[in-house]
Amino acid sequence: VSFHYQDAHLACDGVSLSEIGERVGTPFYVYSARTLRESYAAVDTAFGDYPHDIHYALKANSTIGLVRVLRSLGSHVDANSGGEIEVALRAGFIPPQIVFTGVGKTNDELERAVELGVKTINIESAGEAARIAGIAAAQGTRARVALRINPDIDPKSHPHISTGQKSAKFGVPIEHARALYRDMAACAGLEPVGVHVHLGSQMVDLEPVRRAVAIVTALAEDITRDGIPLEHLDAGGGLGVSYDGRAVPGPSDYAAAILPAVRSSGLRLLLEPGRAIVAAAGALVGRIVDLKQYEGGRRFVVLDTGMSELMRPALYDAFHRVVPVERRAGDEQITDVVGPICETSDTLAKGRPFPPAAVGDFVAVLDAGAYGSVMSSNYNRRMLPAEVLVDEGRWRVIRRRQSLEDVLALEE
Ligand code: LLP
Repeated sequence: VSFHYQDAHLACDGVSLSEIGERVGTPFYVYSARTLRESYAAVDTAFGDYPHDIHYALKANSTIGLVRVLRSLGSHVDANSGGEIEVALRAGFIPPQIVFTGVGKTNDELERAVELGVKTINIESAGEAARIAGIAAAQGTRARVALRINPDIDPKSHPHISTGQKSAKFGVPIEHARALYRDMAACAGLEPVGVHVHLGSQMVDLEPVRRAVAIVTALAEDITRDGIPLEHLDAGGGLGVSYDGRAVPGPSDYAAAILPAVRSSGLRLLLEPGRAIVAAAGALVGRIVDLKQYEGGRRFVVLDTGMSELMRPALYDAFHRVVPVERRAGDEQITDVVGPICETSDTLAKGRPFPPAAVGDFVAVLDAGAYGSVMSSNYNRRMLPAEVLVDEGRWRVIRRRQSLEDVLALEE
């Protein structure tokens, strides 16, 4: 693990987080290039020599300095918006390395994707297929497409991040898929090349994944028999991580759930992991600005960072370990670690044992590399935090802290 105590000091791959904090100020995100490499390699090697491409899901964290590390490892990307496509290009990816997913792609975004010739557009509906066909015809080209299949399977994750049930807005109901492929194949502007499925995120039960992949593989075989030869099956993302230290299935279990069905089809496999690659690589570091101690043992540690930088606890009741950067000796006390925002939901840790602390101490929120920085906001006119990458014992700022001038530049 990259974040570890050296004596009582929390470090990232040997670099003291206090040292970074004194230099860049708080709050900041810090990422370990080493963990990124290890997590990427764990997923990649789990799929062995079966033909596969890892399309890292940019939505989890798309800071260019971080994404470039993944590119250097051979990663491709999954983009969920026109903005993510442009970021991918600036990070050095070429269109054949980009898949474009998303439930509400605009015509502008689709035109750009078709003109670039991305590897695949994952289509969400018959209406979107018709729009893409029109755009491609107008450009005198054929767009490489796949249908995102909704297999109506519960991924057994948090309802906010479950996407594969019939009740969800995502994908095309599986029973409509085969006919839609026939329609698409008959369209001059469309070239169906794959099938896509993404069930949900933070999945720690892999049986739903196994079932979904089996169902979608069978569909792909039917489509091929219909005379539409497909190249690939895109199994989406969703592999969960452990936020609290409890054992969860890892990349090899994930591969064991997916590979048997896909192998029989011979289709190339695409994967879109986000969290499994970046969550553990990142921490959010803030500083204690106040302590509130009440009778009956209630203690609040108030940080200069909270839901504006890390939404996950407020939005999904998500658990993140919150630890002091300089560990003080003494008894732990049940504590709420809270942020500065004007909402009670701005609580990073509730009712947890926390050691003695003082105003000015640095505090780290662990496993915050995925869906942390990307979901941060200017709520309460707070500036987006700085981001730091630690690599080979050195660190550098990969995104400077936003300034008031940056924010106000957009206003009259
Ligand atoms: N592919 C598609 C089509 C997706 O919608 C997602 C995530 C992924 C891949 C990557 O999933 P992952 O491997 O990271 O689970 N903000 C939430 C997570 C939202 C996930 C949305 N889609 C959170 O903080 O838990």
